[in-house]
Amino acid sequence: MNKKKDRNVIIGIALLILIVTTLHFSTPIHSVFYHDIYDRLYYIPVIISAFFFGIRGGGTVAALSGVIFFSHLFFQWRVHEHMDLTGRYLEIMMYMVVGILIGLLTDLERKQRRKTEVAYEQLKDSFEKAKESARLAALGTLAAGIAHEIRNPLGGIKGAMEIISDEFAPSHPKYRFVEIINKEILRMERIVGDFLGFSRPQKPVLAPDRINSVVRSVLDLCNKNLSKNHITLKTEFGEAVPSTCIDTNQVKQVLLNLILNSIDSMPEGGALEISTHQVEDGIEIRVLDSGKGIDPDEVDKLFEPFYTKKQNGTGLGLPISRQIVEQHGGSLTISNRSDSPGTVAVVRIPLNVSCEGGV
Ligand SMILES: Nc1ncnc2c1ncn2[C@@H]1O[C@H](COP(=O)(O)OP(=O)(O)OP(=O)(O)O)[C@@H](O)[C@H]1O
Ligand SMILES: [Mg+2]
Repeated sequence: MNKKKDRNVIIGIALLILIVTTLHFSTPIHSVFYHDIYDRLYYIPVIISAFFFGIRGGGTVAALSGVIFFSHLFFQWRVHEHMDLTGRYLEIMMYMVVGILIGLLTDLERKQRRKTEVAYEQLKDSFEKAKESARLAALGTLAAGIAHEIRNPLGGIKGAMEIISDEFAPSHPKYRFVEIINKEILRMERIVGDFLGFSRPQKPVLAPDRINSVVRSVLDLCNKNLSKNHITLKTEFGEAVPSTCIDTNQVKQVLLNLILNSIDSMPEGGALEISTHQVEDGIEIRVLDSGKGIDPDEVDKLFEPFYTKKQNGTGLGLPISRQIVEQHGGSLTISNRSDSPGTVAVVRIPLNVSCEGGV
């Protein structure tokens, strides 16, 4: 209920109590018939408040009505000693009983309604997710089909180009175009490979390996790229990080994706920090950059397939990375850093995984 509506109801209840009380105090005691009616009029604010504010509202207004009515009886009726007030005192008890009972029922009904609403939201959510995965599955099948069809002729073009390339020495005036063709063929190969990788994910082949050495070997690959982009590297390898069952190549692919994203986010240079730690039930790899960070409107889209802001991006880097990490039973999250501008990616890989059984 909104605050304005609450306030209006409270004012209404107060007015009702005021009217009933005025009627009580202004009607002569011997008009017993009218007083019998007014006694019962207090039930109206009691019931309304119990209905709107539950047991607290019902109880409070019942107590307030009781106190007012009691003072009325005490000051105006008590002097008439011949009158039996037992029935009227019992009425006060009844205000409390009715206020509390209706309030209790209202609270119970509201709790039940909230539960139903939550269940409904959950159901809707899972339905949305099911729809989304059906949509992605259809998209994946389509992309896989197209990628597959492109891969074969692309292989032919690549083979033919290798032969033609031999004809062009670097000094040849058209050598530049041959280079462009070869570069674009590689790009197409990467896109097609990414599509196929995403739509037909390979089950990880688990073997024990040390995360620290996996991270080091990826950094060795990236070092040149980092210095070329004026990016300084800071690492912190948790000494206690144990060996765990992973698909080394797949985890390398994830780290490479994250590092390349960080590099892309710092076109003017910056700082990259990579750390590994053992956490409660797994290993955490954190990749922090001092780049431009994530815009609020893209937070929900980062892991959507094909979402990219880059001219040459496929938008499959993060979805594939998450898919790989989740197939290891872990999680991948990306968010803006809280301490300074930039992004933090957190990869969690569980430790309780057997290399044979997998996850
Ligand atoms: N470290 C980061 N800093 C800022 N934005 C990021 C970062 N990582 C990802 N993003 C945003 O998320 C988008 C999607 O990333 P994703 O890796 O899935 O695809 P991509 O990098 O655009 O393409 P590809 O991986 O094929 O090169 C990026 O285009 C970028 O806008
Ligand atoms: Mg990427």
